[in-house]
Amino acid sequence: MAAPDRPEVLVNCAVSMDGRLAFAGGRRARLSGPEDLARVQWLRADVDGILVGVGTVVLDDPSLRVHWEMIDRPVGKGPVRIVVDSNGRTPTRARVLDGSAPTILAVSTACDRTFPPSVQVVRAGAPRVDLGALFAELRRRGLRKLLVEGGGEILASVLRSGAWDRWTVYVAPIAIGGSTAPPMLRGPDGAPASEGLPVRFVSAEPIDDGVVLTYRPAAGASPARPLSGATHPARAETGP
Ligand SMILES: NC(=O)c1ccc[n+]([C@@H]2O[C@H](COP(=O)([O-])OP(=O)(O)OC[C@H]3O[C@@H](n4cnc5c(N)ncnc54)[C@H](OP(=O)(O)O)[C@@H]3O)[C@@H](O)[C@H]2O)c1
Repeated sequence: MAAPDRPEVLVNCAVSMDGRLAFAGGRRARLSGPEDLARVQWLRADVDGILVGVGTVVLDDPSLRVHWEMIDRPVGKGPVRIVVDSNGRTPTRARVLDGSAPTILAVSTACDRTFPPSVQVVRAGAPRVDLGALFAELRRRGLRKLLVEGGGEILASVLRSGAWDRWTVYVAPIAIGGSTAPPMLRGPDGAPASEGLPVRFVSAEPIDDGVVLTYRPAAGASPARPLSGATHPARAETGP
């Protein structure tokens, strides 16, 4: 069960069978087949928010919308889009700024960029966004379930913090290799690669020609770096 000071956090990503999130240089790879794409839409339809890092917005320009046409389910409200972007690097023309769905830009307290009025701004931490403070603010705003979709730096930060509840990885039947295709988890050494992040295996389900692996945090695992929302609460504002 999720801690009371944050939403339930689901982590989902797709990787090649050699663990890469994208092609060389971070070029978007469509790794999921039709069944897995539908699985992701079900996940998106079931959460209150979808969170990505600004790296993903810059490279992929995702809409972060639910494609209701892909699932047998009545069209619903749809989740809030959340971008973690300490310095306000989200491109002006990014789809997440198109006003078509509720959107939160999580920036650092030092960021003075203004955003369109349709965008809600949450200021949390410096020089980077403090994910603990952000998660606490999201919970305070009524978000009970959050889906973290990537990319590699955000995945590593969230997983390393221990503030997650279920991690699903679609492993696609393709190898990418090379030296610039991003690995599933990025970031500074020790987080969590060098000491290892223990996880508890739950299931492996064949989907399309790949497999969906599901994990939970290992029993008794303590966060390598506890999230610290209580000490530096986020500040919220709407529009410029
Ligand atoms: N296959 C998949 O499932 C999947 C899903 C999503 C993305 N991707 C791929 O992932 C790649 C992008 O990943 P990425 O690692 O470059 O970028 P990312 O994880 O999307 O975003 C990372 C950025 O978030 C910002 N950030 C702010 N606070 C942070 C914190 N506490 N912890 C970590 N990051 C924080 C940092 O920029 P600032 O310092 O400027 O704030 C950081 O550079 C693309 O190639 C994309 O195609 C793949």
